[in-house]
Amino acid sequence: MKLSAPVSLVGLELHRDSTTALHRQLYDGVRQAILAGQLVAGARLPSTRSLADTLEVSRNTVLLAYEQLLIEGYVRGKVGAGTYVASCLPDGLLRPPPMPMPSGPPGALSRPGGIFRRSGQRRPTNGSPRRPSQPGVPAPDVSRWRVWGRLLARSPRPFRIGVPALDAFPWKLWGRLLARQWRSLSPALVGGKHPSGYRPLRELIAAYLRDARGLACTPDQVILVGGSQQGLDLAARVLLGPRAAVWVENPGYPWAHDLFHAAGARLIPVPVDAEGLDVAAAVTRYRHARMALVTPSHQFPLGATMSVARRLLLLQWASHDNAWILEDDYNSEYRYRGQPLPALQGLDRNGRVIYLGTLSKVLFPGWRLGYLVVPPDLIDAFSTASFLAGYYPPILNQAVLADFIAEGHFGRHVRRMRSLYEERQGRLVEAAKRRLTGLLAVDTAEAGMHLVGWLPAGTSDVEAARHCAYQGIDVLPLSVCCVEKIRKHGLLLGYAAFDERSIVDGVQQMAAALQRRDRKPSRQPIAASVEM
Ligand SMILES: Cc1ncc(COP(=O)(O)O)c(C=O)c1O
Repeated sequence: MKLSAPVSLVGLELHRDSTTALHRQLYDGVRQAILAGQLVAGARLPSTRSLADTLEVSRNTVLLAYEQLLIEGYVRGKVGAGTYVASCLPDGLLRPPPMPMPSGPPGALSRPGGIFRRSGQRRPTNGSPRRPSQPGVPAPDVSRWRVWGRLLARSPRPFRIGVPALDAFPWKLWGRLLARQWRSLSPALVGGKHPSGYRPLRELIAAYLRDARGLACTPDQVILVGGSQQGLDLAARVLLGPRAAVWVENPGYPWAHDLFHAAGARLIPVPVDAEGLDVAAAVTRYRHARMALVTPSHQFPLGATMSVARRLLLLQWASHDNAWILEDDYNSEYRYRGQPLPALQGLDRNGRVIYLGTLSKVLFPGWRLGYLVVPPDLIDAFSTASFLAGYYPPILNQAVLADFIAEGHFGRHVRRMRSLYEERQGRLVEAAKRRLTGLLAVDTAEAGMHLVGWLPAGTSDVEAARHCAYQGIDVLPLSVCCVEKIRKHGLLLGYAAFDERSIVDGVQQMAAALQRRDRKPSRQPIAASVEM
């Protein structure tokens, strides 16, 4: 087969004096050229050897850049057949679609739709015909909170999800930083009010997100909140009017589902597959949603990474329909294979993405710190909402975290935890393969702090979780994450917080519990079965 001639990348400039690594600059340059439509689908990139010669860099630099583009789906490659711009990125999606003409006064299109919508102001209609009848699912049974509330308040037992390695946190160092801040308290720190949170921390977070997550942001766009849950709450208040429709992943993050229900939104469950949220299915189901809540880096709970094609489609929908995308990037730090994928926010050219991050996974959930990164024209709305909802988390906590980041401890801790969690995941998979065959199918994952174990067909995950709880094991049934039933039943197993001994013993207890599941089902709720 004759190969097409490679495109020329001679215009690409690399800056050797920049602090950004050369492979990263090269990756950025090619990616930008693809997104701007300068490199079209099917175009062949130069070979790594010839590009390295042209740019006078090592071949490794080019290999690293190509590898990252490959992982993210911008290019496709075959050994000996060259590297091509992926054809699943249709031209029409690449250049940002033109914004629809505003029907109201200038700026009306980007105005929020929640508590900050002026009375009498009409929701922009975008000239679309009357909306079809509005779907939505009935409110969940919130009595489950009595159950989960009791479970979450106790110290974690295997395999509670969402808990980091508390046994490996640098508590002594943390104590020293805390004491140092305490000794040097200034009236400005404790007596002042800090719009959107402690400025030095907002600067450090903005720099971290630009560098590690590819966000386009300034410190002014960063709003500190008391964990992701408060971020979700602010987003609902600011952006959603009464009965607004929200696309949610099904399965997805149950505490967000309940929060949006409580805020009066209508949930539109959207299936997820190996490429993340199925945007086409969502559009077919109800295209006029006001917001989409997504976890593109690591879909919660199933773990898929959203493909670039889906990301672009989602952004196109949001720009075209004046909808918002709430990107929950809850544990992107923990990816064990490949580099972490840049956040969706970095691809947004029309200010439609609200980015949400948490420190619950890197520090510990009780510190209650998270952050929002909002588009520039939403800064006022969000900081006012934050002020009305009680400002921000305690300022001293923020100052301690700022020191932790600025002095390099944050980066070191993440690196240490990444290899610890990969090891713990390996232990769990090994133990499960040894003890749970036929009871629960558990496989490795590329990222995250939990695994999904699949139950044999016809087994109830709630019932299985109940048997596990009797045996001293906390697992979350997958069905709790579903707004609409899915066919398969599974259990979510957190591993980050548990050492090898607890993992091996925990799996043994699980095996005993799951072998017992055929017995007469218990009538007791999970919480009753786990009371000490
Ligand atoms: C999908 C998802 N988002 C966010 C969070 C973090 O929540 P928070 O910051 O409120 O502790 C979690 C924690 O388990 C999560 O699984």
